[in-house]
Amino acid sequence: MLPRCAGRVCHVLVLVLCLSAAEDFDWTKNDRGSFYYGTFPTGFSWGAGSSAYQTEGAWDRDGKGMSIWDVFAHRKGKVFLNETGDAACEGYYKVKDDVSLMKDLNLNHYVFSISWPRIIPTGIRTDHVNEKGIRYYDALIDQLLENKITPIVTLYHWDLPQLLQEKYGGWQNISMVNYFNEYANLCFERFGNRVKHWITFNNPWSVAVEGYETGEHAPGIKLRGTGAYRAAHHIIKAHAKVWHTYDSQWRNKQNGMVGISLSGDWGEPVDITNLKDIEAAERYVQFYMGWFATPIFHGDYPQVMKDFIGRKSGQQGLGTSRLPTFSSQEKSYIKGTCDFLGVGHFTTRYITQKTYPPGRGGIYFTDRDLAELVDPRWPDPGSEWLYSVPWGFRRLLNFVKTQYGNPMVYITGNGVSEKMMCTELCDDWRMQYYRDYINEMLKAIRDGVNVKGYTAWSLLDKFEWDEGYSERFGLYYVDFKNKHKTRYPKASVQYYKRIINFNGFPNQREVENWKRKAKEMCSSSNQLLAAEEQRSTAANILRLIHDPLTSHMEMVTEIVVPTVCTLCILISAVFLMFLLRRRN
Ligand SMILES: *[C@@H]1O[C@H](CO)[C@@H](O)[C@H](O)[C@H]1NC(C)=O
Ligand SMILES: *[C@@H]1O[C@H](CO)[C@@H](O)[C@H](O)[C@H]1NC(C)=O
Repeated sequence: MLPRCAGRVCHVLVLVLCLSAAEDFDWTKNDRGSFYYGTFPTGFSWGAGSSAYQTEGAWDRDGKGMSIWDVFAHRKGKVFLNETGDAACEGYYKVKDDVSLMKDLNLNHYVFSISWPRIIPTGIRTDHVNEKGIRYYDALIDQLLENKITPIVTLYHWDLPQLLQEKYGGWQNISMVNYFNEYANLCFERFGNRVKHWITFNNPWSVAVEGYETGEHAPGIKLRGTGAYRAAHHIIKAHAKVWHTYDSQWRNKQNGMVGISLSGDWGEPVDITNLKDIEAAERYVQFYMGWFATPIFHGDYPQVMKDFIGRKSGQQGLGTSRLPTFSSQEKSYIKGTCDFLGVGHFTTRYITQKTYPPGRGGIYFTDRDLAELVDPRWPDPGSEWLYSVPWGFRRLLNFVKTQYGNPMVYITGNGVSEKMMCTELCDDWRMQYYRDYINEMLKAIRDGVNVKGYTAWSLLDKFEWDEGYSERFGLYYVDFKNKHKTRYPKASVQYYKRIINFNGFPNQREVENWKRKAKEMCSSSNQLLAAEEQRSTAANILRLIHDPLTSHMEMVTEIVVPTVCTLCILISAVFLMFLLRRRN
């Protein structure tokens, strides 16, 4: 009797263990595997992305108000080489051209952001709505739809109206929640008949940490230890409010979806047999994507954040945690406010436990008690932080699936940059990066992750925030020295187009040819660009080295040329008269 009973208990126990294990992410199993040949589910959406401040230019045109990035970039010493987004790609004037580039790529969707101060110059809707700004986005949306490209629209990609920063302290102030909601409501009202995919915020982690804690980004505020947490708290509330506004006022009429786009690097334990490393890696991910995703999917901050920040605040002698708290009413209001999750992902780190002593005052980075490491064998062709680690993408997507109840996912940004002066259009490393990252996403879909679309970041080279124009993420190269900001296709355009047309990687023989074919196609545009570069470099060298010559040349154009022209005309006139006379 007894053994049978014990057996049954065991059975039940095993079942319970299995069930709970099925919901947990397995940190110890990293199945890297080889390249997987196969295609994506039918209807999978392929796209490319951009954001307003990085591409539009026209920073002070047609009634646009100033954003915190306009002001930040104009301050000297904030951006590499003191560059600004004043002109960027001149995207504001190139709607038709750029949509035709997307058409060439066979894109299904395009992710772009609306500049809040372009349509509401002061940030406050009741002050003034700028109809010219509205017309620009109307034209862009219509142009996309005419070409059967679905617009996926981000409401906030970092360009807060400057007046809201000056008057209220921007995202430090709870009043942003209502102003943002009124702005979002205007967008639903004006564009919602055509736009069905809304993203409230793009990468709020960066807004909070780099905008209000380290100050590397606009508005450049350095409130160490508190700035990021408070900004994030208000951003999460603002997101939830906008979701509820859509849900109660627009969903019936417009049938769209509202999500948020969260960026997250993956964190892999240095030693998967060491529990401390596993916990540290999980903290890294929880402090990154989990910071925003956990409240939105489960109603509150990750427990590790509450524990660690709470304990560190106590050690500093603070009465309350530096991490703000949600009331129980707020928790239930915020929980479940996500129709789809946007995921931005670029790179991975190895993580190990590292304890920071209390006393020097906690900041976001030391609150986590961990150290980030990279494998020197990982390729890093572009931005210094961006190592190519494709398997990290599959790990992150599986983490999203197990932690947040397998939500609908759109990849809203994935891609790689290249170094500054590079004018090489045959971008081998970018083709490799896309090939391997998209393949890991395909594996994740086979693991059961509900990914509906993929967005290559980015369509064009563009203004890269504090890095200015020194890092190029584009599928298309932009010649920023040329006032027309001419676009040239890189080889990755051809490569990505093949992935799109085959909806994945059909078989080894086919895929192995793609790189070679793409490089053949790009060599002609490479020559075009090289000729253009040479021409402008030659002109620059002349101007720089031979100052006397330059003044001589100016003299030539100003005096000699007109004189020669006049002479020519005179001679022709005499000759003509002579001819006419002879006829008579
Ligand atoms: C940027 O501006 C600062 C302050 O005026 C100046 O010191 C620095 O040399 C400038 N950098 C460049 C590359 O022009
Ligand atoms: C928020 O803005 C209001 C109005 O300007 C101001 O009174 C309040 O001090 C601000 N709060 C913070 C935390 O800056």
